[in-house]
Amino acid sequence: MKILVTGGLGFIGSHTVVELQNEGFEVVIIDDLSNSSIEVVDGITAITNKKPIFEKLDLKVKLDVQDFFKRHNDIIGVIHFAASKAVGESVAEPLMYYENNITTLVYMLQELCGLTKKNFIFSSSCTVYGQADELPITENAPIKPAESPYGNTKQIGEEIIRDTCKVNSDVNAIALRYFNPIGAHPSTEIGELPIGVPQNLVPYITQTGIGMREQLSVFGGDYPTSDGTCIRDYIHVVDLAKAHVIALQRLIAGNNDSNFEYFNLGTGTGSTVLEAIQSFERVSGKALNYKIVDRREGDITAAYAETSKANNVLGWKTELTLDDAMDSAWKWEQKIRNK
Ligand code: WQD
Repeated sequence: MKILVTGGLGFIGSHTVVELQNEGFEVVIIDDLSNSSIEVVDGITAITNKKPIFEKLDLKVKLDVQDFFKRHNDIIGVIHFAASKAVGESVAEPLMYYENNITTLVYMLQELCGLTKKNFIFSSSCTVYGQADELPITENAPIKPAESPYGNTKQIGEEIIRDTCKVNSDVNAIALRYFNPIGAHPSTEIGELPIGVPQNLVPYITQTGIGMREQLSVFGGDYPTSDGTCIRDYIHVVDLAKAHVIALQRLIAGNNDSNFEYFNLGTGTGSTVLEAIQSFERVSGKALNYKIVDRREGDITAAYAETSKANNVLGWKTELTLDDAMDSAWKWEQKIRNK
C-alpha cells in the first residue's frame, strides 16, 4: 500500500515515515529540502532497513504536482506535512506563508480527488485555538482568530478540507491538531534539525546544554501559573508519528464516523518552561544556564490537550513522558554535535 508523505524529510514527517515503514507501508516522500536535508533519507533507512522513495519537488509548481500524481496514481493515502511553520517568520512574511501553505494544499487536494482511494491526513496545530477559555482544550473549543499568519494557514487549511469533503463524499480526511512536538527517535538516527537560531524551547535548551548557546532566555516569569512561566503540552514526536499511522489506518479501513474528522494530539499534561528545564537537568545531569526575561510577543499563557477523543475514538494515547522526550532530544543533540 503506497502512501505519499509530503514534507517527509522534516521533523514530524521523517518520524512518521519510520512508523509507516515499520507497519509495512510503501512510502513516497516529496520534500523541497527548504527546511530539511537529504541525509534524513539515510536515517530513515538505517532505522527501518527500507529506503523510502524520495522526490525533490516544489509543491507550488502545479504542473509538477500533476505530473507526480500521474506517475504515482496507485497512492492510497496522503499525509500532508509540507508547510512553513515558523510563527515569527509568518508575521514578517505573511504572503510567503499563504502562498506556500495554502496553494500547495489546494493542489494536493485537487490531485487527491483524481485518485481511486482518497484518504488524507492533515498536519494541523493547537494554534487554531489561540488562548482557549477552558483548559484542558477539547476539540469543541471555539476556533479563535489566529495569533499569526502561520496559525491562520492551519485554520484556513482545515476549512478548505472541510469544504472539499462536503462535496466529495469519497474524500476521507482527518486533521491532527498537534500540541508541542519535541524529542527525537531513540536510535538517534533522526531528530529535529532547526536551521539557525532555534525558535522553539527544546532545541534551544539542548543547544544551550551542549554549549552552542550561552544562555536560555525564559520568555516571561510573571504569568498566572504555578511558577510564573508558560504551560505547554510537550508530546514525544514518536508518539505523534504513531498517531498518524493509526489515523491513516482508520481511513483505509473505513472506520471513520464522518469524512472529515479532527483530533487533538497531546499528552493531556501541561508543563511549565521551568519544569521543562528541570526535566533536561534530570536527564542530562547538567545544570542549565538560563535567565528569566520579558514575555515574548504572541505567546499564550497555557495550552494542554483534553485527550479523550483521540484516546477513545482514534484509539491512540501517548506512551512516552516528558523526560523520555527530553532524554531523546539531548541524546540527539550530542550525536549531531559529535560529543
Ligand atoms: C514553548 C514555550 C515560550 C523559546 C509553536 C507554534 C506551534 C508549534 C510549536 C508548529 C513558550 C517558551 C521558547 C525560548 C522560551 N509549531 N520559550 N524560550 O510557541 O508553544 O508553539 O511551536 O506547529 O504551532 O506556535 O512553542 O517551543 O516556541 O515555546 O521561554 O527560547 O517556551 O515562551 O512558553 P510554542 P515554543
